[in-house]
Amino acid sequence: MLIIDGKKVSQDLKNELKSSVDSYQAITGKVPGLTVIIVGQDPASQGYVRNKAKTCKEIGMISSVIEMPSETTEKQLLDTIHELNNDPAVHGILVQQPLPEHIDEFTVNLAVDPSKDVDGFHPENLGCLVMGRLDKCFVSCTPYGILELLGRYNIETKGKHCVVVGRSDIVGKPMANLMLQKLDAADCTVTVCHSATQNISFYIKHADILIVAIGKAGFITADMVKLGVVVIDVGINRIEDPATKSGYRLVGDVDYEGVSAVASAMTPVPGGVGPMTIAMLMKNTLLSFQRINGL
Ligand code: GUN
Repeated sequence: MLIIDGKKVSQDLKNELKSSVDSYQAITGKVPGLTVIIVGQDPASQGYVRNKAKTCKEIGMISSVIEMPSETTEKQLLDTIHELNNDPAVHGILVQQPLPEHIDEFTVNLAVDPSKDVDGFHPENLGCLVMGRLDKCFVSCTPYGILELLGRYNIETKGKHCVVVGRSDIVGKPMANLMLQKLDAADCTVTVCHSATQNISFYIKHADILIVAIGKAGFITADMVKLGVVVIDVGINRIEDPATKSGYRLVGDVDYEGVSAVASAMTPVPGGVGPMTIAMLMKNTLLSFQRINGL
């Protein structure tokens, strides 16, 4: 079985991006800039944001993090976003989710200038993706990273049956559309399954490519999949493990041990999809810089 190594591919991609950033800097004297806004003190979100800032610096981009207290009003957050929309040194704006309950995420997604929306969460970007204009939009980083992995491993997608399990706005919906899309994408026949799907095993068993993003540890087991299936595991679940120093370990939505004996290719957790998400955020930020500067 082929292990789809997201850690390695993301490092290759970051090296390529660094070379591009360096050469653009030599030509224009400018570098891409990403600003991340975090509201509140969620430890997991703080970790993700630190990682994003660190990766920016590694590849020579400017990164700033705006930390706002959890009592921040929606209006204050929207005002901050509008300032960044108008700041020419900012090419990418990312508002870390989840937001506190009193702030409406959809309103926030709408406020980010679509041309700086490197998360691809603005309806204009999602709409462009649905209409197949990848050249005009930003694609949400996790689905985009998965497409990149399939491409770099030369995994045949055209005409295959892809089953996406999960229908979130961030992963499931953009993923399904990307797999469906022909130009610059996968050209698959796509089925989307979710928590209300009846007889979900039927669809999963008929998948040539199975993409799982539901947040349930070990949900997909060997008996559920077809021999030779390509499995992409988006889940990152903490499970207790007294044998480790921290007392827990990370596992995916797929039972790796069991399914790897049946699959032809598979992403591990950790080291599969996760590292690709940040690398694609950097790719989107560079893309925004190129578009804004006509490069
Ligand atoms: N929270 C978890 N993943 C993401 C992401 O990709 N973007 C944002 N903005 N928030 C997140």
